[in-house]
Amino acid sequence: MLIFRSIKHIRSQLQPHHERGQRVSLVPTMGNLHGGHISLIEQAKAQSDIVVCSIFVNSLQFALTEEWDQYPRTFETDCQKLRAIGCDYLFAPDDGEMYPNGLATQSRVVCPSFTDILCGRSRPGHFEGVTTVVSKLFNIIQPDESVFGLKDFQQISVIRRMVEDMCLPIKIVGGAICREPDGLAMSSRNVFIRSYERPKVTVLKESLFEVGQSLAEGDKDFCGLERHASKRIKQLGFEVDYISVRNSLTLEEAAINDRDLIVLGAMFTKSARLIDNFIIRLDNKSRDDSEEKK
Ligand code: PAJ
Repeated sequence: MLIFRSIKHIRSQLQPHHERGQRVSLVPTMGNLHGGHISLIEQAKAQSDIVVCSIFVNSLQFALTEEWDQYPRTFETDCQKLRAIGCDYLFAPDDGEMYPNGLATQSRVVCPSFTDILCGRSRPGHFEGVTTVVSKLFNIIQPDESVFGLKDFQQISVIRRMVEDMCLPIKIVGGAICREPDGLAMSSRNVFIRSYERPKVTVLKESLFEVGQSLAEGDKDFCGLERHASKRIKQLGFEVDYISVRNSLTLEEAAINDRDLIVLGAMFTKSARLIDNFIIRLDNKSRDDSEEKK
């Protein structure tokens, strides 16, 4: 695997691949790679000729109060993992390369849809940071497709909308949520979970799953289901950011006749903010994210 720090060099490396018409896939990450990231790379490998992974801890998407400087950085182990699965290129720029004029005057890509609700509500400016860096990465790599995890469902919804709005010729592919054996969604932020909290944090997944089951059985009392799930989480001592049943295509609050549903949730432990979701399509039988893999 070749590692590139500069935009100029990765561009000239990729140019012959583009000219030969090879399919280039990009998997953007912030590093500290776990099974979820690796599954996205594997998915990219299966459907393209060349896979580029990027690692960049994007300060633009962290609020001042958030943990940009404490974000886990494990570059050497990440490289080993990427080599082991046969990733072709790693693009790992630094701040100076990505934001040479500083953050304050950096042009931004703003996607008004989907960004001020759910995670965007408690993390103002976060999605603007994401769309800005992802569009820069798209311009640098010029991928034919890019793979994003369904764990960050709101993020992939925003990216899909940005791609549509800006007429970018890039296919956005969703990768199933990878979980720890007890069901906790894998996340780079899981290292912040305190050991005494660890056995209890699966309550987020369990309560979302429970809401999903009720929805699949035809329960339409969305608010009641949300309240019940929040209560279950709070009872274990966690603070709930939101539990929300939405239309999975529009991310608007679910309406009685919606068939494409998703229940999303975010909660705070002592030192981590965890998110998860569960997709339900009422036409078919309920399916969880593991079925997405098929
Ligand atoms: P990061 O949190 O590193 O995640 C990189 C990609 O991995 C995202 O598409 C995310 O949805 C996916 N991912 C994370 N945990 C996953 C899991 N358990 N199962 C499947 N996929 C998972 O998301 C970001 O970085 C950044 O916002 C980024 C898009 C790179 C822009 O800076």
